[in-house]
Amino acid sequence: MKTLIFEPSTENIIKCAHALKNSDLVAMPTETVYGLAANCFDEDAVEKVFKVKERPTFDPLIVHVNVNELKNTKEEFAHLMLLSKLKLIDLTKLTKPIMTQLEHLMKTFWPGPLTFVLPKSKYIPDLVTSGLSTVAIRAPNHEVAMKLIENSGYSLCAPSANRFGRISPTNAQAVFEELHDRIPFILDGGDCAVGLESTVISIDEFKITVLRPGAITKEMIQNATGLSVVERNQLGLNNKSVESPGLLENHYAPSKPLLLIKQNEIKKDLIENKIFKLNKKFHKVSLLLNNDSTLSHWKDVLVQFKIIDAFYLNVNSDHTFAAKHFFNTLRMADHSISDLIIAEQYDSDDGIAHAICDRLFKASTKI
Ligand code: TXA
Ligand code: MG
Repeated sequence: MKTLIFEPSTENIIKCAHALKNSDLVAMPTETVYGLAANCFDEDAVEKVFKVKERPTFDPLIVHVNVNELKNTKEEFAHLMLLSKLKLIDLTKLTKPIMTQLEHLMKTFWPGPLTFVLPKSKYIPDLVTSGLSTVAIRAPNHEVAMKLIENSGYSLCAPSANRFGRISPTNAQAVFEELHDRIPFILDGGDCAVGLESTVISIDEFKITVLRPGAITKEMIQNATGLSVVERNQLGLNNKSVESPGLLENHYAPSKPLLLIKQNEIKKDLIENKIFKLNKKFHKVSLLLNNDSTLSHWKDVLVQFKIIDAFYLNVNSDHTFAAKHFFNTLRMADHSISDLIIAEQYDSDDGIAHAICDRLFKASTKI
C-alpha cells in the first residue's frame, strides 16, 4: 500500500474522513504528537491499528473527540453530557462531586493535552480499552484533528503514529518513516506545538492520579481542582496488570542503545563501566546534551570513543522548546552513523521538564 502525505485542505480532510468510514486508518496531526486514527466503534479498523503499530492488545487506546461546539455553552456538565451522547462513557458510574471536578477540568484544559480515564460505555469495543472498564478520552487542540473528527462523524481512537515502543512522531515525515506502506494517508499539519504526549489522569473522590506526565502538569491540575494530585510509580515491562501501560519502561526508544548519565556520573571510569555492561563493543557515539557548556568535559571523558555528533535539548533554558523538539532530536540521534547514544540527564524537573525527564528515562537502555 502506497502512503500519501496530504496537505490538510478541506478536500483532503473529506477524503480522509471517507477512508475512516471505510475502516481505513489515517495519520493525523495533534498538538502533542501525530496520531494513527480509526473510528473507535469499528472493530475491524481498531484491529488494524494494533496490527499496523505492532502494538500488543493489552495496551489500550485514547479516544479523541471534538468539543468545539461547547465553546460558549453554559449548560451544566456540558462536556460529560456530550461524551455520554457520543456513546463513549457511562455517566451512571460517576458521582456528582467527581462530575463537578471533571467538568471543571475539561472546561479549563480542553481542547488540549489532558486525557481522562473514565467509566466506559458498553458501546466501545473491548479491543479499544484492552478489556478495561474504563476508557481514555481527550479533545486534541489542533484544527486538522478537529475537522477530521467532525467530517468523519465518529470519535477517533488514535495512539501515537509510530511502531510500538519506538520514537513518537512530531511531524508528517516522521510518521512516514515509521508507517509508510502500512497506511494509506498522512495528513500533514506541520510540527506539533507541544511535542510530548498528553498527560493521562484518573480521578476519584479524594485524589487525582497522573498515569503519564505531560504538558498539563501536576501543579496545574492541583491548582484547578484543589484536590491532591499524586503520580503513579514506574512499573516494570512484564507487569501485564498495568493501569496505564504508557508507563512501561523501554518506550519511545531509538533503535540503538541510549545510555542515560546523571550530571554527577560524567566520569571516565564510571561511564566506561556502564558501556561495558551493555555487553557490546561501541566506537562511535552521539551525544544528547542539555546545551554545549559541558561538551569539552564530555570530550575528555570519552577519549576512547569517536564522538560523531552532539545534539542539544535545552539551548536557551526553555523547557517548552526542549519538549517541542525532544522526539525529533532523539530521531536525529537515531539516524546518525553512531552506534551508541549517550544522553545527559535533563537539567530540570519543573513543569513540563518533568515529562521530558520521564520520556528520556523511558527511551534509555536499562542496565
Ligand atoms: O497525546 C496523546 O495522548 C497522543 C495523541 C495522538 O493524542 N496519543 C497517545 O496515545 O499518546 P498512546 O496510545 O501512544 O498512549 C495512550 C496512553 C497509554 O499510556 C495507555 O496505556 C493509556 O493512554 N491508556 C489508554 N486507555 C487507558 C485506560 N483505560 N486506563 C489507563 N490508561 C489508559
Ligand atoms: Mg505512544
